[in-house]
Amino acid sequence: MSANSFGRRFVITCFGESHGEVLGVVVDGCPAGLPLSENDIQVLLDKRRPQSTTYSTLRKEKDKVRIVSGVFRGHTSGAPICMIIANEDVDSTPYEAFRRKPRPGHADFTAMVRYGGFNDYRGGGRFSGRITAAFVAAGAIARKLLSMRGVEVYAHVAQIGNIRVRRQPKLEELKKVYENDVRCAIPEDVKLMENELKNAVEAGDSVGSMVEAYAFGIPPGLGDPLFHSLDVDIAALIFAIPGVKAVGFGLGFDFPSMRGSECIDEFTVREGEIATSTNKSGGVLGGLSTGSPLHIKVAFKAPSTIKKNVRTVNLESLSETILKAEGRYDPCIGPRAVPVVEACLSIVLADHYLSQGIIPPVLGD
Ligand SMILES: Cc1cc2nc3c(=O)[nH]c(=O)nc-3n(C[C@H](O)[C@H](O)[C@H](O)COP(=O)(O)O)c2cc1C
Repeated sequence: MSANSFGRRFVITCFGESHGEVLGVVVDGCPAGLPLSENDIQVLLDKRRPQSTTYSTLRKEKDKVRIVSGVFRGHTSGAPICMIIANEDVDSTPYEAFRRKPRPGHADFTAMVRYGGFNDYRGGGRFSGRITAAFVAAGAIARKLLSMRGVEVYAHVAQIGNIRVRRQPKLEELKKVYENDVRCAIPEDVKLMENELKNAVEAGDSVGSMVEAYAFGIPPGLGDPLFHSLDVDIAALIFAIPGVKAVGFGLGFDFPSMRGSECIDEFTVREGEIATSTNKSGGVLGGLSTGSPLHIKVAFKAPSTIKKNVRTVNLESLSETILKAEGRYDPCIGPRAVPVVEACLSIVLADHYLSQGIIPPVLGD
């Protein structure tokens, strides 16, 4: 499997760079017979576009998607589905500086070493958050497939800087997450998060964040241990999102400080079915779904491109120097990454549903 492809049955292959002509994705393995239009994809891509200019990059891309293959008479045909998104609002000027003076915390240096300087560095090239538009496009198809089996996937921003939500969101709140700019489902925490973000922006700085995601309606027993366990595949695809530094399931990073008696989910019987009274494991045991909602936590670092003086090295003179980034950047990744995390979770689930035959290769009417 190539380094730019992911999945066993629902296989995505991503292509394109931040400032190239287009970026996009080929989805291979989608069952034939799924009703699909460009609008199905577009509504989700629109959710990834920058919100207010206070909280996101000033780069304004239309992100209009074109489906150029794999859909015939309004339905998927079973052939690979190729989706293309044009890059239009491109200004590569600031990136010339980063070529000589790599941004600390970004991939300028590592990419230059790996590709011998031949990589397209404009706009961060393949390492730009922009490539996640392709994840969202593929995820839109995965979500449609999953909705046929009653699966719903939602995410929201659960932390920005030192402001962390004080409770779990309700399902109705998760459904309204795109109604505020920080994409937090807990109404009473939105203002606090906005202030945290605004303070970072006013200081010419950026701020870290955490996205939590949930998938409802997953039956028990989904996953392929060992190396395609559900949590293995979810973590792998989530880590492909630029800026992700940790992925947790359920209580995640709280587990190390807990005793066994505190971290188990006790079994019970609910409406004649075996269930657990809590969901601390995040809906996965032994790499297999438990039947409780999947619950993941995704930690994003603060974006490294900031309007402050930072120390780096001039690669031509091999001397220490100062860099102050010019250009258009996101001060926080979480709010922009909510639809991306939803998409990645959906892609992995669709792949497993197809692998286990829960979704057939041809769909009836
Ligand atoms: C939606 C999205 C937008 C991003 N925007 C920026 C940005 O404006 N500036 C920045 O320095 N990093 C941004 N990032 C993160 C970088 O792409 C990432 O930190 C970089 O590629 C290095 O990879 P790593 O942090 O995973 O090691 C963004 C990431 C995502 C998912």
